[in-house]
Amino acid sequence: MTTSFVSNMSPDKVNLARITSVGIAVPPRILSNDDLSKMVDTNDQWITERTGIKTRHIVEKGVTCSDLAAQAALECLAKANLPASEVDLIIVATITPDMMLPATACLVQHKIGATKAWGFDMSIACSGFLYAMQVGAQFVVSGAHKNVLIIGMDIMSSIIDYTDRQTCIIFGDGGGCALIQASQKEEDGCFYDFLHEVDGSGGQFLCVPGGGSQTPASQKTVEDRMHFLKQDGPVVFKFATKRMPDLCVRLLERNGLTGKDIDVFIPHQANLRIIKSAVDRLGMPMEKVIVNIDKYGNTTAGTLPLAIDTALKEGRLKRGDLVLFAAMGAGLSAGASLIRWAY
Ligand code: UT7
Repeated sequence: MTTSFVSNMSPDKVNLARITSVGIAVPPRILSNDDLSKMVDTNDQWITERTGIKTRHIVEKGVTCSDLAAQAALECLAKANLPASEVDLIIVATITPDMMLPATACLVQHKIGATKAWGFDMSIACSGFLYAMQVGAQFVVSGAHKNVLIIGMDIMSSIIDYTDRQTCIIFGDGGGCALIQASQKEEDGCFYDFLHEVDGSGGQFLCVPGGGSQTPASQKTVEDRMHFLKQDGPVVFKFATKRMPDLCVRLLERNGLTGKDIDVFIPHQANLRIIKSAVDRLGMPMEKVIVNIDKYGNTTAGTLPLAIDTALKEGRLKRGDLVLFAAMGAGLSAGASLIRWAY
């Protein structure tokens, strides 16, 4: 298998990178399908059959992205027994930052006391955590940093229109944080290869049209509900069921692998039907696939760290496992990556 990392910075110090700890944060309040059926014209049977979702977690008013991101980061650091003062870099993947600026990473840096860390946000929606993993890993592989925190966190309830039954049934709040550190040899865990692609021609199919430089916020944008997420569900569904498995297959093939070689598949939790179609294409049994969409819904950048946490807690992810991650979402964006799990 290939490791796709090449260091331009200090070729004499090229490392492998691995994930050494994961923490999560999910708000306690649960919004069930029955709750939603009292808000819009829907029902538990439709939502369960079409998406696999039963419940999602929603923040109380006033709880922000940086609040949950800091909570997840502190849990992640505590598990790694690493003081926040040792963190070099914080990358927050989110489309629901506390504010347009400053970057949520700066707020997290202050909240957790990571006094020497720099940081920035990444805005690529459901692919956010997957892309952030690769970006964070590069800083470790180059030898530039020892301890990188990557956070995938979204407060989707802040941009969801709870009168739109096509979107409000899908999304939830929450996410998690992973620590990336160096690894000396493959068996100790490492990032192997990745394949990411965007198709910007599909940007309009999943977007928040108001509040940016295209249509700055005004009374009219609010009246027209343009600050809420808009989605053409069937178009995104079609993209997801084709592009996500395509990338997985191409990534496996170029590493001489098939679905049978994968120990654990951790896909973005967008829709159970999307996950099952990818699993069919990969020819792997559902026992290898981590699914928690029934509990959390689609938390956008939060789904992958939440799924890692589920896999670890259920004892289904172990040191040495070859893990395939996959995601897709707004952009339209998609990706897949191969990782040897470290712990
Ligand atoms: O994370 C990445 C971002 N998003 C996604 O991955 C989402 C991808 N898309 C999807 O998951 C699915 O397209 C949805 C779950 C959003 C919708 O499921 P669908 O099977 O594609 O339904 P549809 O939009 O084709 O609608 C089928 C019917 C329509 O009624 P008619 O026209 O056939 O009478 C809709 O009006 O279902 C209706 N419908 C609903 N009915 C009850 C749509 N939403 C609901 C609802 N409850 N919540």
